[in-house]
Amino acid sequence: MSTTSTISKKLAVSDPDQISENYAKKKKMTVPLFTGRKGGDPLVCLTAYTAHVARLVDEQADMILVGDSLGMVIHGMPNTLGVTMEHMIMHGQAVMRGAEKALVVVDMPFGSFEESPEVAFRNASRIIKETGCTAVKLEGGAEMAGTIEYLSTRGIPVMAHIGLMPQQMNTAGGFKAVREQDQFDAVVSDAKAVEAAGAFSVVVEGVAVRLANEVTNAVSIPTIGIGASVECDGQILVFEDMVGLFPRVPTFVKRYGNMEDMMRDAITRYSEEVRKRAFPTDEHTYKAKESS
Ligand code: KIV
Repeated sequence: MSTTSTISKKLAVSDPDQISENYAKKKKMTVPLFTGRKGGDPLVCLTAYTAHVARLVDEQADMILVGDSLGMVIHGMPNTLGVTMEHMIMHGQAVMRGAEKALVVVDMPFGSFEESPEVAFRNASRIIKETGCTAVKLEGGAEMAGTIEYLSTRGIPVMAHIGLMPQQMNTAGGFKAVREQDQFDAVVSDAKAVEAAGAFSVVVEGVAVRLANEVTNAVSIPTIGIGASVECDGQILVFEDMVGLFPRVPTFVKRYGNMEDMMRDAITRYSEEVRKRAFPTDEHTYKAKESS
């Protein structure tokens, strides 16, 4: 039997119909409710960057992340390093207009939290004040524990992010999954450090199945996996990746739709109809009214 199936067998899975029914009736998600789902029904998380996508995602998801991946999937940047506080706040505000029940978490962009806990607090509190979101996410393990503690003891819930950290791409030499066994202990230590510092949950990105299992068992806060197997307490994907709106498809992404083809088809048909003067027809045209 493979390692994957041996580990996965230990996971409890509730009746899917019951889970869907629970979503339909779901209450507004709070940080304590989210943390309380550790080891329970898997937490469904997705990114959203616009109000209308947030409205759709909100129907199913427990958590909506306004992630700094928006730099790549919305703004066409080569990586997340150019994302600013202004980007995060503007997209955070849009998402808050669409989300009702899901917990909304906004990413702290590169350069907005690393310098000191005080700088991190200033920027995190600005994100919370100006967007109305509930929590922030920041990349980093043990080295960020002091900052996580500073924020979380001052009213700012923090979701940590360990394993593959895209903001570290220049020091790591690219987006590198954590697969070597001699790297595992450091990631487990990071998970324990962010939990001890007060993080209410932790994103675990790009790690081997066995490591995801070790991290999930090592902490009592929910682990949210991306490229980190079914061993985590929940999953997150970037919306644009999942619906086929971003051309690069990493191994861990499953495409649940092909929006790019649908959009190309709509653009092509519209263009053809405009060129043939087949659009607009009467149906899409205002008729003159008698002036009263
Ligand atoms: O920015 C983002 O989309 C993220 C996810 C990969 C978790 O941080």
